[in-house]
Amino acid sequence: MSRTQTVLALESSCDDTAAAVLRRQADGSTDILASIVRGQDSLHAAFGGVVPEIAARAHAEVIDLCVEQALEQAATPLGEIDAIAVTAGPGLIGGVVSGVMCAKGLAMAIGKPLYGINHLAGHALTPRLTDDVSYPYLMLLVSGGHCQFLLVLGPDSFKRLGGTIDDAPGEAFDKVARLLALPQPSGPSVERAAQAGDPARFGLPRPLLDRPGCDLSFSGLKTAVLRAREALIAAQGGLYPQDQADLSAGFQAAVADVLAEKTRRAMTLYLEVSPARPALCVAGGVAANMTIRSVLETIAAEYDTAFVAPPLALCTDNAAMIGFAALERMARYPPDDMTLSARPRWPLDTTSPALTGSGKKGAKS
Ligand code: KG4
Ligand code: ZN
Repeated sequence: MSRTQTVLALESSCDDTAAAVLRRQADGSTDILASIVRGQDSLHAAFGGVVPEIAARAHAEVIDLCVEQALEQAATPLGEIDAIAVTAGPGLIGGVVSGVMCAKGLAMAIGKPLYGINHLAGHALTPRLTDDVSYPYLMLLVSGGHCQFLLVLGPDSFKRLGGTIDDAPGEAFDKVARLLALPQPSGPSVERAAQAGDPARFGLPRPLLDRPGCDLSFSGLKTAVLRAREALIAAQGGLYPQDQADLSAGFQAAVADVLAEKTRRAMTLYLEVSPARPALCVAGGVAANMTIRSVLETIAAEYDTAFVAPPLALCTDNAAMIGFAALERMARYPPDDMTLSARPRWPLDTTSPALTGSGKKGAKS
């Protein structure tokens, strides 16, 4: 690419409405000029999960505002934008449609190309944006909506080594926080409570460790926490702070153990392709958990592999990753056209069997 390219990107596949402006310089380096993320936590808090209809309406209401703010923060008028990028799936369809419609309108208005981007590709390519990691690398995507091991071979080439067959770990953290009556935000609450807890008290299960391969499961673990809680309530009439701490610690340790063992298996498969500079990368909100992060760091060290965790703002849902994925594609592939459609399901790796899990973001593949 011989000249600078400036991209305006939109993301609206779950409960964050986001817009970003990125510029790729002639030397190939990329700068994030603006990244705006408007969450919807307060709108969904009363319902114990993301309500798709509420999410869709909220995206439609604020997406143009996010675009305006991003352009203003980037000090870049719309006329200087070279391409529009948008998450075209997978995700909650109402939200994805809002983004795609807005992006089409913008692309048509300024007469510039449109790129429909896979949300998971956005997450998976982020280590190249933040740390210039070279292909191929191993990505563990762990959030409230996703959980999969990906071999990232190129901007449009992914091999899924395994994934959750039911819930995503972040969903399980959210559910456990509710079961234990811990405050929002739930993941950090469980992590905080776990600090004072005994992880061995309840002997919680480590699902799917007895099966070969890299698939994971978190639903049974969540149910085990529910059963332990019910037994405590039946025996003593309620939960004491020490019970909350011990259940949190036991749950977190079980998630960390499962992720650790499956990561080791994925690392073994990955190293079979013998990359020159191997890297274990992680993305998603659960990567904020220090216990999980340090377990993954230890495994990377065991395998003499770099550990790359992008800053949290780029690990969680954002539009900068969508703009970056578009920049990665622009040099190699033609743009989409006005027939681009929003896709609730969109597996990154169509050669692997479809994942059956479906959580707060809808389909996991
Ligand atoms: O990536 P993200 O912001 O959105 C999704 O794509 O889901 O991830 C949010 C998820 C939530 O389920 C939240 O409970 C979890 O990440 N999370 C954590 C922590 N911080 C956020 N889970 C465990 N420990 C944390 N410290
Ligand atoms: Zn995501």
